[in-house]
Amino acid sequence: MDAAETSKAKIASLIQDVKKSWDDELQQLVHTLPKEEGWISGSLYLYQGFWCPAIVLKPVVSFQTHFQAFDSDVMVATFPKCCTTWLKALTFSTLYRDRFARDEHPLLTSTPHQLVRFMEYDVYANNPCPGLENICVYKPRLFATHVPHASLPTSIKDSKCKIVYICRNLMDMFVSLWLFSNKLRDENQESLSPDKVFDMFCRGICAFGPIFDHALEYWNASQENPDKVLFLKYEDLKEDINSQLKRLAMFLGVPFTEDEEKQGVVEEIVKVCSFDKLRELEVNKKGLHISGIPHKDFFRKGKVGDWSNYLTPSMVERLEKLVHEKLDGSGLTFNFSSKISQD
Ligand code: A3P
Repeated sequence: MDAAETSKAKIASLIQDVKKSWDDELQQLVHTLPKEEGWISGSLYLYQGFWCPAIVLKPVVSFQTHFQAFDSDVMVATFPKCCTTWLKALTFSTLYRDRFARDEHPLLTSTPHQLVRFMEYDVYANNPCPGLENICVYKPRLFATHVPHASLPTSIKDSKCKIVYICRNLMDMFVSLWLFSNKLRDENQESLSPDKVFDMFCRGICAFGPIFDHALEYWNASQENPDKVLFLKYEDLKEDINSQLKRLAMFLGVPFTEDEEKQGVVEEIVKVCSFDKLRELEVNKKGLHISGIPHKDFFRKGKVGDWSNYLTPSMVERLEKLVHEKLDGSGLTFNFSSKISQD
């Protein structure tokens, strides 16, 4: 089997096993939930107002029930395909920068997803009460999730645990998600037609969707409590990564010192986390994430504006209209420039 076949076989077996792992209580809950076809495989269930992939429904419930946040915890929160991989790398490298020698950076030998583990796809995937002491290599603890703000465990919201969120213009996000999902679909499934998935996306039906609610909830939380939730945009990072990284460090309570700036620490972190650097590392080129996804599939183009190569004028019009409807008055805006970033 080649790598793509191994990945598809693993995803198929995870989906097959998932229902067997549901106890009576979860089975009963699932029967009450609206259901839709998932973009990759397995169903999506409308749970607490968001479309939860079947494969993570049980882990999400375990995370909500059992996770106890510490005041010192940091949570990377994102919508899928909004550049979680980059934010994980940047947050890890910034928070723990004094823990390792430059030539022994953990990103050289582990993927960003192995260093900052997803609650729902990884930490709680096979164990409702995992021992969290040894899950994070360094302290403070650093985790990641796609769960919407409203459905986060209460201890995350009630504690001083910090949340770093990243969002991206919805057109690039849609294209990224559509192409990513198509790659992972089984050979016996048809490719996702752009019209069909675009319509699902606009109706909010995709993993952890609707995106509008997801982004808006974290946006509102960041406006209400800027010391607790930092809201970043992919386009801003692409435009001026150095100043966004300093903003992140400041928010995390580990601002870069003058000395560090003089020594080029900011530039070093930017470099090791860059798309070109990460994509070329052996560790990101081969092997599968615990969810069955090939590590290499987390790196595609890494550009702003690539949507202009895929979306029709009517799709653009529909999405722009929706963005106005959903976000106008919130203060949350997106740059829909069709100019493709050149970095
Ligand atoms: P594209 O498909 O537009 O290229 P996620 O990490 O949430 O799965 O999102 C994946 C998207 O982030 C992909 O976008 C991927 O190429 C991009 N990406 C991954 N690592 C990146 C990095 N270090 N810098 C910039 N973009 C990155």
